[in-house]
Amino acid sequence: MRKRVTIFGAGYVGLPMAARWSQVNPVVVYDPITEKILQVRRAVEGGDLYIHEKGLKEGLQQNKERLTFSDSIQESLKDAEFIFICVGTPPKPNGKADLQYIQQAARDIGKHIDHKAIIITKSTVPPGTGYLIEKIVKEELAKRGATFSLPVASCPEFLAEGTAMQDLHSPSRIVIGCDDKEALQEISDFFCTFHSSEKIVAMDLRSAEATKYFSNAIMASRISFMNSAAMFCDAIGANIHAVRKALGKDPRIGGSCLYAGFGYGGSCFPKDTRAIEAYGEMVSAPLKVVESTIQVNEDVLRYFFTKIHDHYTSLQGKTFLVWGIGFKAGTDDVRDSQATKLCDLLLQEGANIIVHDVVPSALQNFQATRPTVKITTNPYEFITEVDGLLIGNENEAFRLPDIDKLASMKEKVIFDGKNVLSDSVRKELEENGFVYRGVGTDDVDKEKLVQLLQQYLND
Ligand code: UGA
Repeated sequence: MRKRVTIFGAGYVGLPMAARWSQVNPVVVYDPITEKILQVRRAVEGGDLYIHEKGLKEGLQQNKERLTFSDSIQESLKDAEFIFICVGTPPKPNGKADLQYIQQAARDIGKHIDHKAIIITKSTVPPGTGYLIEKIVKEELAKRGATFSLPVASCPEFLAEGTAMQDLHSPSRIVIGCDDKEALQEISDFFCTFHSSEKIVAMDLRSAEATKYFSNAIMASRISFMNSAAMFCDAIGANIHAVRKALGKDPRIGGSCLYAGFGYGGSCFPKDTRAIEAYGEMVSAPLKVVESTIQVNEDVLRYFFTKIHDHYTSLQGKTFLVWGIGFKAGTDDVRDSQATKLCDLLLQEGANIIVHDVVPSALQNFQATRPTVKITTNPYEFITEVDGLLIGNENEAFRLPDIDKLASMKEKVIFDGKNVLSDSVRKELEENGFVYRGVGTDDVDKEKLVQLLQQYLND
């Protein structure tokens, strides 16, 4: 079923959705920031795009005859049947979600729309936001004496950065939360143009909003669980790679989000865990597991930093080469990246930082706020100046380093924040005189472990 779609927000969610849905539907992307609109228009004609996302620009280019990009609210709402809200919900200093852009979108719709349409939030919003949108739109419509109403739904987006286009093509599920049965049916029909109805999970509005938070929180909690397990493994000399592999093979556990390292980052897990934790606290239903998840994520970064610190007498004047600054592989997004936080800790201690990433714009994004750091697109360019190599994300390119080139490091030490080096690569490195430190891969000799066990039994 074809629909005239309007998307609010030309960002990480709005643009991939526009590329996907314009394969069939006429789509208008609205953003009040004129410069963004001009840039996307140029990108569609072959220019650069401000978001690095595999296949996004090509997707927009392929469907350009069905795409309009506009900074005019009137023009964007003119014929809209479905209005998707994909604006940001950044964290406030107290961790709660800032809904100013959502509220602004609701006001804009209420002020300017002149016909019935369905509003669907894709943004991650605290449960109840859909009703708030409904209320704001209603108030604005009433001011103009309009007699129609606009149903509001929540279809949270589960796409991940770096695989956004792929995720939109094959979503694991499509959650549609709407209290209005007719609107819910219309939205389901729309999605069935692209996907099997088996993928649709229909529910009420607030449950859909909650689902999105719990989805991110459960994934983050698995990572924090594994990071705690990794710190434990370090203490007893067990190998987290082996443990993870065995755990993941149990179908009741499953293999995803079990990769230990120096913590999760990005613009979603850290923000969403904090936002839902604050909400739970406020409604006297504290989400203790989420609380610990957040705490472990901070602890594990500090733990990893201490490992680095302990290796050197002082960090003052030491030079670290960082491979991977984006919060994960294949993205230029450095927001809330553990690697950037680690760099900041090192800089505070007087260390020098040289950063390499496979995605060049990640380097520019990092340098924009830290102008004193050196950046390089060649992983070995400054190798002779380096006292320690830090691996900051899980890019494939870092899995098999050139040991001969690394041998020119001033000190042959590798700190692997994402545990990307396999046991066999690690062994080869150690045979060549390198010191390797990951998270959950430390050696503890048998005698020491027996002593620890005896202490445990005796206490
Ligand atoms: C996450 C979710 O995966 C998406 O489903 C969701 O739609 C999105 O948030 C969102 O709310 O918009 P994203 O933040 O792009 O997507 O990235 P992930 O691939 O989930 O990775 C998040 C962080 O966890 C990264 O720093 C990654 O390195 C880390 N991670 C992931 C681990 O440390 N271990 C793992 O096993 C998996």
